[in-house]
Amino acid sequence: MSTLDITVYDQYSNEELLTRLDLKRLPRHVAVIMDGNGRWAKSRYMPRIAGHYEGMKSVREVVTVCREIGIQALTLYAFSQENWNRPPKEVGMLMKLMEGYLKSELDLLLEQDIRFMTIGRYDLLPKPILQWIDKVEAATRDCNKMVLTIAVSYGGRGEIVDAMQAILEDYQKGTVTIQDIDESLIERHLYTTSLPELDLLIRTSGEARISNFLLWQVAYAELHFTKTLWPDFRRRELLIALLDYQTRDRRFGRTLQLDRIQTSGKLS
Ligand code: FPP
Repeated sequence: MSTLDITVYDQYSNEELLTRLDLKRLPRHVAVIMDGNGRWAKSRYMPRIAGHYEGMKSVREVVTVCREIGIQALTLYAFSQENWNRPPKEVGMLMKLMEGYLKSELDLLLEQDIRFMTIGRYDLLPKPILQWIDKVEAATRDCNKMVLTIAVSYGGRGEIVDAMQAILEDYQKGTVTIQDIDESLIERHLYTTSLPELDLLIRTSGEARISNFLLWQVAYAELHFTKTLWPDFRRRELLIALLDYQTRDRRFGRTLQLDRIQTSGKLS
């Protein structure tokens, strides 16, 4: 949880926030739990889907800003395995929104040289979405300025189960032994194996939970929780999250003193 009072940033304009950011110390991989669309809509006496629609605009802006400043990988939690339990009408509308996003975004992704990827269990996804996912993934395969990953029908525990099953299949074939099983082998079987280490996880809407998102990957990530609802999370809120990240002292379980020895070669 952030310990910094982020109201210190209130005095700065967006341009000033950007100049304060150290572009050499950006997180390589940022993930976002996009929460609060329903509350955003409710507070305006609008249907929940209006919040999701507005949230899609935040997706567009956050993708563009991450690409602009040089984040290597952005992963967005768009639909969890648990979200299948929402009222069928809302699920149907979210699926339509997702399909619309895929159709409308392809040109923009190509123009910005962004590779598109999805992670999750696809068995329940409607066919038109699967076809669009294939199309956008194939069309952007060689893009290399940033990887945008959308988690759909995703669950972190399910991802670990899938990795275990794949490893056990290799064990049965005799291509893996018990001694081969270590963290790096498990990581190679996760959906995110091609992505850099997760450095920053953001959750909007004031909740401070991980909600089954990137459970393995979050081990050493910095967490940024903000009260801002996802449809209101735009360029400014992202820059503040990145500035907050840069105030953190990342020790990965080491002591500060040892950290200094390791980076400078001598005790400072
Ligand atoms: C959580 O808010 C949000 C979702 C379950 C869906 C997220 C979807 C989008 C942002 C739009 C589509 C995204 C893409 C990538 C096309 P909530 O509904 O749980 O809000 P609440 O907690 O206020 O009810």
